[in-house]
Amino acid sequence: MKQVNSLAVEIMPALDSFDAGTLYTTAVDKGREQGGRILVLDNNGVVMADGFSLLNGVKLGYREVQDIQLGEKDFSYGFHLVAALPQQGESTEEGKSTWMVYYTSAIIKNAKTIGVLVFSTSIQDVVDKTGLIREQLAYISAGICVVIVGLSIIISRLITRPINEMMHAILYISRGRFDRRVKVSGKNEMAKLAATFNMMSERLENLDRMRSEFIADASHEMRTPLSSIKILVESMLYQEPEPRVRKEFLQDINNEIDRLNNLVADLMTLSKIDRHSQVAMERVEMASLTERVVKNLYPIAENKGVAVSADLPDELYLVGNEIKLYQAVSNLVDNSIKYTPEGGHVDVSLESRGQFAVLKVSDTGVGIPKEDLPHIFERFYRVDKARSRETGGTGLGLSIAKEITAMHRGMLTVKSEPGKGTTFTLELPLQQAPEGNKEG
Ligand SMILES: Nc1ncnc2c1ncn2[C@@H]1O[C@H](COP(=O)(O)OP(=O)(O)O)[C@@H](O)[C@H]1O
Ligand SMILES: [Mg+2]
Repeated sequence: MKQVNSLAVEIMPALDSFDAGTLYTTAVDKGREQGGRILVLDNNGVVMADGFSLLNGVKLGYREVQDIQLGEKDFSYGFHLVAALPQQGESTEEGKSTWMVYYTSAIIKNAKTIGVLVFSTSIQDVVDKTGLIREQLAYISAGICVVIVGLSIIISRLITRPINEMMHAILYISRGRFDRRVKVSGKNEMAKLAATFNMMSERLENLDRMRSEFIADASHEMRTPLSSIKILVESMLYQEPEPRVRKEFLQDINNEIDRLNNLVADLMTLSKIDRHSQVAMERVEMASLTERVVKNLYPIAENKGVAVSADLPDELYLVGNEIKLYQAVSNLVDNSIKYTPEGGHVDVSLESRGQFAVLKVSDTGVGIPKEDLPHIFERFYRVDKARSRETGGTGLGLSIAKEITAMHRGMLTVKSEPGKGTTFTLELPLQQAPEGNKEG
């Protein structure tokens, strides 16, 4: 642009003096120097000199020329697709067109425009080059697209594979088969999900096993009294015993029915706790509750020749379910009386210690062997099956007490020495956590 401008200044005197020879040689020389074509136009747009000697005397109406003639601009330029001219001796194929750029500059004398200088040069090579670059860009973009699509397919496979695996596992479990686990690889969210899933299926498997064991145990427990009753009834039917024996048999049948009744009652209690049923939590006064338990069991103890003492505070309030707590305490005191021989004694004490109510039930009874201690809270577990049956036990009392304790977020522990005695300690929080009444 600058060069065109300085050329315009250079050429001004020749135009001013209508020196056609100088105009022409300057146009040819400078055009060659710059690798283009120079035209000098007068103020009307008529070509005075053409570096290629083709348009002399012709009036040019290009926009760039008009821009200068109208005095709007001192310079202008524009791009044109033109039919190719044989440039500087080289021949061009017919019908081929070329991209050209036209620069124009005013030729000024004494602040008056006296003519227009036009410099045109081919930019076809630039256009060709950009075309080539565009083509290459198209290939590169296509390549990038292919890579991106490929990568997204691979990544989505990587993501969906574990999801698919888990979906299959869930379907498997939903058909009631809980032994299925999924692979846990890495540390990402998917792996955490897989680990949680495995935890869940393991719990389900355990629950399922416990459930079927429980049903098996419960039916087994029912079977014993039922078969006793059957034998007794059959002997009465077919042997026609004398009235005294008959009465004895009926007494036995009555006892077995009591056992069945106890068993069913305990099973119902357990299944109610199991169902996570919403238990109403209220303010419970533990001292009077414990006193009632002791009073109700006192006749049995007296009958057996077992002394019972209670050391209770005036009042001790906590939040819990009165019926359930009564049942738990009653089971503990009942056991102590049951498993303590004549002449022994049972001591019940209650006190508040920090945030807990602490209830102790100790006896001077038969005690529990060390190897049985870890199992006594299990359902149907009895140390001495024969003795327990004699006393009408179902083996469910302690597991019920344990569940009730858990329901109150408490703790039930045992210490025992065979032949000397046993102490059960029941610790219950005085205040319940807000969600306490949902606990099962
Ligand atoms: N105070 C105790 N002294 C000795 N043994 C006990 C005492 N409490 C519980 N046990 C043992 O723990 C077992 C489980 O108790 P429990 O669940 O109440 O069942 P059950 O009283 O019906 O036999 C009892 O069979 C008994 O062997
Ligand atoms: Mg019991």
